[in-house]
Amino acid sequence: MPVLGNIGILYQCKQGGRQAEVQPVEKAALVWERDTIVWVGEEEKLPADYADLEFIDAGGGMVIPGLVDCHTHLAFGGWREDEYELRALGRPYIEIAKSGGGILSSMRATREATEDELYDLALERINGMRKLGITTVECKSGYGLSFKDEVKQLNVYRRLDRNQPLDVVSTFLGAHTIPPEYKDNRAGYISVLIKECIPFIADEQLATFCDIFVEETAFTIDEAWTILSTAQDYGLMLKLHADQLSDGGGASLAADIGAVSADHLEYCSDEGIAKMRDAGVTAVSIPLASYYLRQPSLPARKMIEAGLPVAVSTDFNPGSAPSYHLPFAMHLACVLQTMSPAEVLKGATAYAARALKLDHLTGSLESGKKADIAVMDAKSVNFWLYHFRPNACAMSFKDGIRIV
Ligand code: NIG
Ligand code: FE
Repeated sequence: MPVLGNIGILYQCKQGGRQAEVQPVEKAALVWERDTIVWVGEEEKLPADYADLEFIDAGGGMVIPGLVDCHTHLAFGGWREDEYELRALGRPYIEIAKSGGGILSSMRATREATEDELYDLALERINGMRKLGITTVECKSGYGLSFKDEVKQLNVYRRLDRNQPLDVVSTFLGAHTIPPEYKDNRAGYISVLIKECIPFIADEQLATFCDIFVEETAFTIDEAWTILSTAQDYGLMLKLHADQLSDGGGASLAADIGAVSADHLEYCSDEGIAKMRDAGVTAVSIPLASYYLRQPSLPARKMIEAGLPVAVSTDFNPGSAPSYHLPFAMHLACVLQTMSPAEVLKGATAYAARALKLDHLTGSLESGKKADIAVMDAKSVNFWLYHFRPNACAMSFKDGIRIV
């Protein structure tokens, strides 16, 4: 039963209250037993019973909940640096996608890779994430686009979840785009998704969530209803890639169908914001994609003012967001999304956990929650996200076990 003490400042990040409310505690201490937090408060008020416990010195640093990356496409073959060059010179992302690049380019490389090769790549990436203070990661399929190759990606995530300390939450994204074999037979591919993939994946418990990309180059609202309602019938929870490149009504659909989160939302309408808030959907922002694609960000201020929780994630993928650096995404969220550092911190902890339906377990530092903790070498959240450095994580714990 350890005590983490000599903490300069600790941010609890409880679910309730406004997005900016992160409950700072100066000169704090934190106690946990096995994997669960049992006490948080000012160090000078530490109960006498805890005085003789193993003491871990936080070095005067900043303590936050272990970071949660609630949107990644972690396991993929190949990279797309040539597309990055084209985009750097002004070629639009959607044009590259329409000419056979984009998601389909990563599909080809992912199909060519074996499960073991994908596993090794994903393991190296998740180890990199761990060093940054991340303790939970959501991982999507969606670069296989066939029964066999989607299951291959999901098997990689199952193995990752078992073999390294971070929690891995898997999402089936077979509906990422239509693969070339079904170019002229959309209904045929949708039938593969709803008759073969979803029943098998649900039965084998290979995914917790089902996601879909609703966009001109991907799936329509009607197709999304069919696919998502089937997934729901099989017990999967729902997410959507919504309103990224245009207002396609994805936010409204997320609210109507009872999705846990809607992600991207660069072109989300005012009506979409109100409907998501009323339905309890979490908005997941992706500052890296807005940055890499030079797109306007989602209307974060309007969302926060409306009382809609805004989570912050990387969307790590080989196209629109080729970095798994969540603290960098958080820094960008301040600059590009006009969010305060405290709002961003809550977005990458409490609200990211909410976007994964894990808020009863992680994402905040309070009694009864898991001891998922990161210690940052920074004097405050403002300072941390302002003076951006490659890695400020000095120490981290997952389920009470030291992992950095
Ligand atoms: O979340 N929007 C769709 N899918 C991914 C990017 C896919 C890709 O470019 O490979 C995203 O941005
Ligand atoms: Fe994505």
